[in-house]
Amino acid sequence: MTRKWQLLALGLVLGLTTVCASFVAGFYSHHEIASRRLQQLIQEDPYAYYISPKIYKVFSFFRTKDEADHRLRQIMKYGFPGLDDLRLYSDFVLSYDRRNRVAHWVCEHLQVDALQSGQVSRQRASYRPDLTVPSNFRSTLADYHRSGFDRGHLAAAGNHRGLQSHCNETFFLTNIAPQIGRGFNSGAWNKLEIYVRDLTLRFGSVYVCTGPLYKPKQRTGGKLSVEFEMIGLSMVAVPTHFFKVIIVESKLPLGKPYMEGYVLPNTALPDGLNLRSFLCDIREIEHYAGLKFFDGCFEISVNK
Ligand SMILES: *[C@@H]1O[C@H](CO)[C@@H](O)[C@H](O)[C@H]1NC(C)=O
Repeated sequence: MTRKWQLLALGLVLGLTTVCASFVAGFYSHHEIASRRLQQLIQEDPYAYYISPKIYKVFSFFRTKDEADHRLRQIMKYGFPGLDDLRLYSDFVLSYDRRNRVAHWVCEHLQVDALQSGQVSRQRASYRPDLTVPSNFRSTLADYHRSGFDRGHLAAAGNHRGLQSHCNETFFLTNIAPQIGRGFNSGAWNKLEIYVRDLTLRFGSVYVCTGPLYKPKQRTGGKLSVEFEMIGLSMVAVPTHFFKVIIVESKLPLGKPYMEGYVLPNTALPDGLNLRSFLCDIREIEHYAGLKFFDGCFEISVNK
């Protein structure tokens, strides 16, 4: 009698365990498949990435640890400035402006270790067109050749020394814009890039978003108009200005991140100018760029 009950109980427990285990296994494999589909979708269409946090929340119980996905989430921690033609690279994220053949913006996340690695060199990288951009919207090496302009990096090569492939990717022409060489690319702009890296060495974690501006000028009679040059057969726009919006994460446990914005004219600037004279209200950058930066961060006031 008791033996019969024991057997029955044992059977019941075994049965229940099997049901539970297969339920969990089923749920897990389901999640695996869904995550993989999502990854595929993100590769094909980055807009899926934008909505993916909402999907992920549903089954964050079994969160998969995908390195690339993790990195992207980190770079875009403070939100997307815009959503036009998003392009994901290994160590930066870019929005491409097909009309002007220059990015709208490039976002990076800087940490100390990626700045100090000794193995990576920009000498081993070379400029090349990004063939994933449709050919009629792509800028080419020929466009820049003899144009009188430098091939200026938006995401600086020196920020991506963690891996040679990361450094290489900054040389895609999607990340390049026509810049005045002497007095700008090798002058004030370079200084600004070094300043961003110094902030990283001091604070440990810095987010930076870089892009071009096409600022209007006042004509006689008071009307505004935008004028900029275009180079090459692809007609690559020469931005009138470049901006960087920088966000620095505080090392203090409850310290809030703060941000500051810089706008530099794409002209030969005299040596010895103080970078702080280029500080700019973030709202002004948003106004000219048509972008929205880092909602909810504390902005330092522009006291030059
Ligand atoms: C970087 O680019 C160079 C030149 O284009 C190439 O020879 C090298 O293999 C690339 N390295 C990596 C890690 O992608």
